[in-house]
Amino acid sequence: MKKILITGGAGFIGSHVVRLFVNKYPDYQIVNLDKLTYAGNLNNIKDIENKPNYSFVKGDIVDAAFINELFSLHKFDSVIHLAAESHVDRSISNPLEFVMTNVIGTVNLLNAAKNEWKDNFSAHRFYHVSTDEVYGTLGETGMFTETTSYDPHSPYSASKASSDHFVRAYHDTYGMNVIISNCSNNYGSHHFPEKLIPLSIHNIKNNKPIPIYGKGENIRDWLYVEDHARAIDVIFHNAKTGTTYNIGGHNEWTNIDLIKILCKIMDKKLNRDEGESAKLITFVKDRAGHDLRYAIDSTKLQKELGWVPSLQFEEGLEKTVDWYLSNEEWLTNVTSGAYKKYYEEQYTKR
Ligand code: NAD
Ligand code: TYD
Repeated sequence: MKKILITGGAGFIGSHVVRLFVNKYPDYQIVNLDKLTYAGNLNNIKDIENKPNYSFVKGDIVDAAFINELFSLHKFDSVIHLAAESHVDRSISNPLEFVMTNVIGTVNLLNAAKNEWKDNFSAHRFYHVSTDEVYGTLGETGMFTETTSYDPHSPYSASKASSDHFVRAYHDTYGMNVIISNCSNNYGSHHFPEKLIPLSIHNIKNNKPIPIYGKGENIRDWLYVEDHARAIDVIFHNAKTGTTYNIGGHNEWTNIDLIKILCKIMDKKLNRDEGESAKLITFVKDRAGHDLRYAIDSTKLQKELGWVPSLQFEEGLEKTVDWYLSNEEWLTNVTSGAYKKYYEEQYTKR
């Protein structure tokens, strides 16, 4: 039986990866390590918590002694590392937290893995999940490929870029069996409502302003989260050591066009007159250092490993809206308490 450590499995993408692996591979033992920050929520994986091949450990990847002990206790075969501070706006207010978790936390995991696996690196895989934001910003044309130079602009993307470099360094220096994937913006269920799509769904539902940074002209390339989880599965099992794959669905939208579609879907679902939700659109002060455009070229993944995205955007958005509207309790729970303070600090002064 393979024992796999998945970090950050109580977060948005991690919960989808944990669910996929626990259900698809009953002969794998999945250990989910998560600090349960504001973004981590055990309700995200309630449906699999009692499965015999799943266990949860609460802990902080920044704590090196704890991580070393965990590795020595469990003898993991492989690691899929998703734990991170993930929100750009928070990284602008508090960069150090991003350095601690995203950089130091990743190096702690690499060190523990290196120490445990040093006699047989090829039998143990360290899969690092990263973002397209490490490549910086595009102008009106072009796409990020696996060979695009790193050029991060936000403290978040700088910390992820740094962690990617460390992961590659552990391959090049020590011969560790590592792989990295860089994915575009994800959307889907269980997404914390500080990010554009779930925040907008929450605000539309509650008749609150939808804050659009700048003129809403920034472009993101959106991928349904379950398609990302499937890509991680395919890459984890098939990629050659030391390789990188870009993951994306060729699905670029300006923020304002995306929000207009979302408003239409919300009007329909909430039985509102057409155009009613769009009245909530409010242009607010732009994000500092706001990257203009991200677009991923995922040809390598599609050609070499046969992965393709499964959903059209409008279908995925509608599924996402349905999930939020039928999981009111989830949304109420995560938006009580600390969320309110964050929201006030982030948006009332804009
Ligand atoms: P998230 O913020 O929803 O979840 C992160 C999880 O990590 C949470 O459960 C949190 O509790 C946990 N965590 C944070 N700090 C920790 C620590 N010090 N020790 C242990 N656990 C800790 O993030 P997400 O959107 O699910 O992103 C997951 C990964 O995917 C990240 O590495 C992110 O950079 C990457 N990624 C995200 C996107 C996206 O669109 N969300 C796109 C590409 C790549
Ligand atoms: P976000 O969901 O924070 O993801 P990222 O910054 O990692 O791409 O933001 C997506 C886009 O939406 C980005 O261009 C910033 C913009 N945005 C808004 O216009 N308003 C908001 O309230 C938020 C959170 C984001």
